[in-house]
Amino acid sequence: MPTPPLYRLIYISRSTIDPPCLAGEVDRILGTSRVSNHLAAISGILLASRGHFCQVIEGTLTHVERLFETIQRDPRHRDIAVMEFVPVPKRVFDHWEMAFLDIDCLTSDRESLGRLAAAASLSLSGRSMVDAFARLTHQRAAFGD
Ligand SMILES: Cc1cc2nc3c(=O)[nH]c(=O)nc-3n(C[C@H](O)[C@H](O)[C@H](O)COP(=O)(O)O)c2cc1C
Repeated sequence: MPTPPLYRLIYISRSTIDPPCLAGEVDRILGTSRVSNHLAAISGILLASRGHFCQVIEGTLTHVERLFETIQRDPRHRDIAVMEFVPVPKRVFDHWEMAFLDIDCLTSDRESLGRLAAAASLSLSGRSMVDAFARLTHQRAAFGD
């Protein structure tokens, strides 16, 4: 059987979570995500930064659409804006059910931080964002975090 084509969806949104509760809520989101994304063969990364989320979701069209419908109904964020939704030849985050980066806590690579901050204000293309995220994720993996 031929493998179904892969898609990548990137969106940004505004968090509605009270900042003091953010870490706990994000833990809950990631706990759910890592189980259900594994079952649906979804991979990706979730970024949180100063009241915003940005998420890259990779998987088959059906799975990406189904997950995004659920995510859009989630009251923990609003003002969801899709930045990219395209077929892709392969996954970037293939080892991650949902990687996570708290941009505000990340101090090791200021240049990448600047790029991510710029990405959050929509000034970078989806592709550059994915590259920047992938670089940071792989760095983190290299540090054994
Ligand atoms: C910013 C954000 C990102 C999320 N990412 C995922 C995800 O990647 N996978 C997932 O299963 N749920 C994710 N969720 C949680 C879903 O919105 C939803 O709460 C969860 O899938 C449980 O859905 P259910 O109550 O319909 O079973 C995310 C929620 C938020 C606010």
